[in-house]
Amino acid sequence: MKHLILLVVSGMVLSLALSACKHAPMPGPQAPGIIDSSGVNQPVDTANPSFSNAILPIFIANCSGCHNDNLANDGYNFTTYEKIKAKKFYPGNPDDTKLYESITEDDDEDRMPQVPNPRLSSGQILLIRNWILQGALNN
Ligand code: HEC
Repeated sequence: MKHLILLVVSGMVLSLALSACKHAPMPGPQAPGIIDSSGVNQPVDTANPSFSNAILPIFIANCSGCHNDNLANDGYNFTTYEKIKAKKFYPGNPDDTKLYESITEDDDEDRMPQVPNPRLSSGQILLIRNWILQGALNN
């Protein structure tokens, strides 16, 4: 009898241990992408990012709070395609483009977004660089 109980108990332990392994497979590393307005993670073509899917959301989330129709610090407005390109902006040439300079600036006093806001990530900076390099299209 003692043996039977032991057998049942160890059987339960074993089946518990086995079922614990049947969880869904771990998701792989998150594919690079942009969460679109409906919450879907859209893949991004890093070398040739789309303005509407990849670039505009970065400006809206990180810049438009201080650069908009009511508050255009230094005359920069980052709310639409035309406005983003309106001032000291050179398609094909990120290094001469003021907004690109401002997000890559080493000096914390001059860099955008202003301190204490966090810097853009290197991935976001690369997307903006490549978008400008590709001619800053409204794509
Ligand atoms: C918290 C507010 C704030 C945020 C967020 C912000 N800016 Fe600014 N920005 C300012 C202010 C204030 C100025 C004008 C004073 C100055 O140059 O520091 C300015 C000036 C600028 C200038 C002109 C700089 C110059 O030297 O002529 C550029 C370009 C710029 N911002 C780009 C951006 C970009 C791109 C983003 C987003 C990545 C951004 N800003 C986010 C407040 C902000």
